[in-house]
Amino acid sequence: MSSKKDSELAQPAKTRFSRRGFLGGMGVGTGAVGAGLLEREAEAAPPANVSGPGAVPITLNINGKPAKLTVEPRVTLLDAMRDHLDLTGAKRVCDRGVCGACTVIMNGKSVYSCNVLAIDAQGKDIQTIEGLGVNNPVSAAFVNHDAQQCGYCTPGFVMAAKGFLDHHPSPTMEDVKHGLGGNLCRCGTYMGVRQAVLEAAKNMKGGKNG
Ligand code: FES
Ligand code: FES
Repeated sequence: MSSKKDSELAQPAKTRFSRRGFLGGMGVGTGAVGAGLLEREAEAAPPANVSGPGAVPITLNINGKPAKLTVEPRVTLLDAMRDHLDLTGAKRVCDRGVCGACTVIMNGKSVYSCNVLAIDAQGKDIQTIEGLGVNNPVSAAFVNHDAQQCGYCTPGFVMAAKGFLDHHPSPTMEDVKHGLGGNLCRCGTYMGVRQAVLEAAKNMKGGKNG
């Protein structure tokens, strides 16, 4: 048996508002009213911390020294270093966070500098291959093991190895293989690189082979 209540439920509830009326009241479809709302919101919003799009002055802390430069906010740390600071050790190969040729150490961690905006790197401690210098255990081990051919990937590998060893002082061969998995070498010097990292570990902190 059908009750009154059932038939009421089957019907859409009637309200004083129609969808068309609601949208009209909100200004949707009129354009002018919508734009007016946006303008009022923009006026009411506090000024955001916006930089650019033109070049802005920034300061980077690279290898323990402040470096002042003026770059557009879209410029990567890699391009800022290479094009504005004459720091060309980090290489631009894939420019999309795949090969590791641009590796630097930022706040103690290896990062792809092509994946970091220069403006965002302000206030961070950045170490590059130039700051590491040639007289360090990692570079020396790379030389000992002939861990480069064309050498284009080498600065990135050295920085990745340094960043890795700082956190894994006693790695096994397998650890090294995985730890440096984010760096590619087109010349195929992987075995030399891995041996070099193990030697550097030994010379730095007495690491173990495995
Ligand atoms: S150039 Fe940055 S990861 Fe390849
Ligand atoms: S030594 Fe040539 S790309 Fe690695």
